[in-house]
Amino acid sequence: PKAAIDGDDQFDAEAVAAGLDPARLTVTFGLGPELFAKTGLEAARPAKLEALPEFDGDRLQDAWCGGDLLLQICGDDLQVVSNAFLELRKRAVGFGTLGWVQQGFSSPPADGGTPRNLMGFKDGSLNPEPGSADFDTRVWASDSEPDWFAGGTYLVFRKIRMKLPAWSMASAEEQNLTLGRERDSGAPLSGGGEFDHPDFTAVGGDGLPAVPADSHLALTHEAAMFRRGFNYDYGFLTQGDVSSDAAAHEHAPGTADHGHDEHPYDAGLLFASFQADPGVFIETQEKMAASDRLMEFIVAEGSAIFAIPPGAAEGGFVADGLFRT
Ligand code: HEM
Repeated sequence: PKAAIDGDDQFDAEAVAAGLDPARLTVTFGLGPELFAKTGLEAARPAKLEALPEFDGDRLQDAWCGGDLLLQICGDDLQVVSNAFLELRKRAVGFGTLGWVQQGFSSPPADGGTPRNLMGFKDGSLNPEPGSADFDTRVWASDSEPDWFAGGTYLVFRKIRMKLPAWSMASAEEQNLTLGRERDSGAPLSGGGEFDHPDFTAVGGDGLPAVPADSHLALTHEAAMFRRGFNYDYGFLTQGDVSSDAAAHEHAPGTADHGHDEHPYDAGLLFASFQADPGVFIETQEKMAASDRLMEFIVAEGSAIFAIPPGAAEGGFVADGLFRT
């Protein structure tokens, strides 16, 4: 209740993290496509901020889609993250309702190498390097955007469930051919090391392309985005949950798809990509939906897009430029 929030004796969420380090806590804010019209700021809406289409193969749950305001809270200590969430949530009482929450994790290996996703593959190898010219052109909003959005970017979020029981039954060779990379080293199947670019003309001993044309690597190579996803593992969900799978009703027993989707185990990738142009995501996702071998093992259940305002200057606040337009 609002009265309790305004009162002196309100719950002190800071106590939750008393004595803990800041744990590299960050909060990233995102503004959804409908927010601008709802707040009378339609004229200032970033030029490319449109709701994402539904893609072939998606099985989206309304409960995990869209939203007007995104808070991405990251840190190395879940207790600190939880504390930040409680503090921020408290401030939204009275003008916001909670749409959805996702909780993910990522563990870089001790040697500082690329973290792995729950399929066991290194994920993020060919991301552009923050601070590089390549990163700047791929990620930061372009000149054709409203002035206040200079230094901002677009975040695409997708909750992508992995069909891990099926994946775990696939041979190492099948897994490698699906991604176009060697799982342990992360190297392209055409040779070299993890960070080397693939050679799509290379052929294997069987005379076939070493990196299959329908592998994830071939279909996504050099798409202009910065991916920063997190793994999630919600464990076994039981009846009544939003993610208990509908597939059982969509495919008759014995059909090709039957059986893969019915397991109530919900784990996968909280895919997040930052890009100057969300059209790049759309184009890449359409290519994946049309022919990526990976599609057999994944299904998107949540989807959203947000404009990420530039960072706040000292003494300023997030998106303050928006209110001066
Ligand atoms: C659960 C779903 C997904 C998994 C398991 C996955 C996994 C991977 C892996 C293992 C790599 C190679 C390592 C790397 O360069 O980071 C990779 C690269 C990449 N993925 Fe995905 N991915 C998924 C979904 C997506 C989606 C939805 C998109 C965009 C529509 C995407 C776009 C890319 C791009 C652009 C690259 C870098 C390609 C390159 O420049 O060579 N991925 N992904």
